[in-house]
Amino acid sequence: MDKMVLKGDIVFTSVKDRLDIFEDSYLIVENGKVVKISKVLEESYKGYPLKDYSKKLIIPGFVDLHLHAPQYPNRGLGLDKELIPWLETYTFPEEEKYDDLEYSRKVFTRLINELWSLGTTRSVVFASVHKESTKLLLELFLESGLGAYVGKVNMDRNTKKELKEDTNKSILDTEEIIKEYKDKSNLVKPIITPRFVPTCSEGLLEALGNLALRYEVPVQSHLNENTSEVVWVKELFPNSKNYASVYDDYNLFGQTKTIMAHCIYNTDDEIELMAENGVYAAHCPYSNYNLSSGIMPVRKFLDMGVPVGLASDISGGNSLSMMSIIAATIQASKMKWLDTNKELAPLTFSEGFYLATKGGGSFFGKVGSFEEGYDFDALIIDDSSLADIKELTIEERLQKFIYIGDDRNIVNRYVEGREIEKPF
Ligand code: GUN
Ligand code: FE
Repeated sequence: MDKMVLKGDIVFTSVKDRLDIFEDSYLIVENGKVVKISKVLEESYKGYPLKDYSKKLIIPGFVDLHLHAPQYPNRGLGLDKELIPWLETYTFPEEEKYDDLEYSRKVFTRLINELWSLGTTRSVVFASVHKESTKLLLELFLESGLGAYVGKVNMDRNTKKELKEDTNKSILDTEEIIKEYKDKSNLVKPIITPRFVPTCSEGLLEALGNLALRYEVPVQSHLNENTSEVVWVKELFPNSKNYASVYDDYNLFGQTKTIMAHCIYNTDDEIELMAENGVYAAHCPYSNYNLSSGIMPVRKFLDMGVPVGLASDISGGNSLSMMSIIAATIQASKMKWLDTNKELAPLTFSEGFYLATKGGGSFFGKVGSFEEGYDFDALIIDDSSLADIKELTIEERLQKFIYIGDDRNIVNRYVEGREIEKPF
């Protein structure tokens, strides 16, 4: 049996409203899972290998619920348009390049290295429409030791001709990937990925919903990101109750585990449907600023019982750092409160941290916390370079790291109890 003990200042959020803090304590790990945390090391654990991280923070690894791997070379570029012209001008021309496996490998290895560097131990990823490039991304994640859901994008209309798929081929390619990767690994799995309603015909949506049910595979897509997009979906599906119900009508809305990115313009009915069906909302604050999309009322989703996680949405978003994204999430919630609705209280620090760890992590199972039975996904934080003249509490040290720290402060990364070295 794999066993170890880690010693340090342990912080996590079992609930969103407060930090669980264990100063100078011992965390016991067996077979990749958390057994317990204690102030004094019990006799029975004294024989376990000890990792002494005294004076360092031990926190859960970060979870990025939504990003586009093939858009990685575009990060920081082309942020002068709204969603639909942005897709046409910058995004589709970049995604076209992924029929080239050499180019794919170059981009994906750099992306995975940066995820590793920034402490993102699990992510949920869009590839492109290309089958072989998607398989390569799955293989590279498997090699890395990081956790991921990876989806081949489906698009059979309203895109550049170079990316427009034949409907049947799109379905067959998706099924092939599902069969090959569904049971290959606990850490890296396929996910069904209709890009968004405007790029999918009814036949494609129907077939993808059937695949999700038949193989019990999760689903990811985009929802209510931009006002022009919402109008377009209404034109394409005039008989559907709303945008969310288009997905729901085709078994792509919580019939299997589902993530919807953005959710800025959801009606109350759509939020309720997400809560009822257990559909996750991936909040992408940087992307929503960059593409002038709007600000998601995260507080309302939390109050109404929708599971929420945070996401970079590279390259609508410009940063892969979940630390920065936590800060941006809290900042966005303050602007929402100030500008739009004084009833939607700004998010607190512990809520922001929770969303980037246990909030998104729960999509993967028992991930994102150090409660008993959780996968031991963790980061060791050396925050000595952030130390101030004044003494800081552990909560203040974590705040400093999130707001002003970076990858230089992350000194070790663990996934399911295994230490992960720089992958490529
Ligand atoms: N909606 C459909 N495709 C995309 C995409 O690539 N990025 C974002 N942000 N929204 C989308
Ligand atoms: Fe996206």
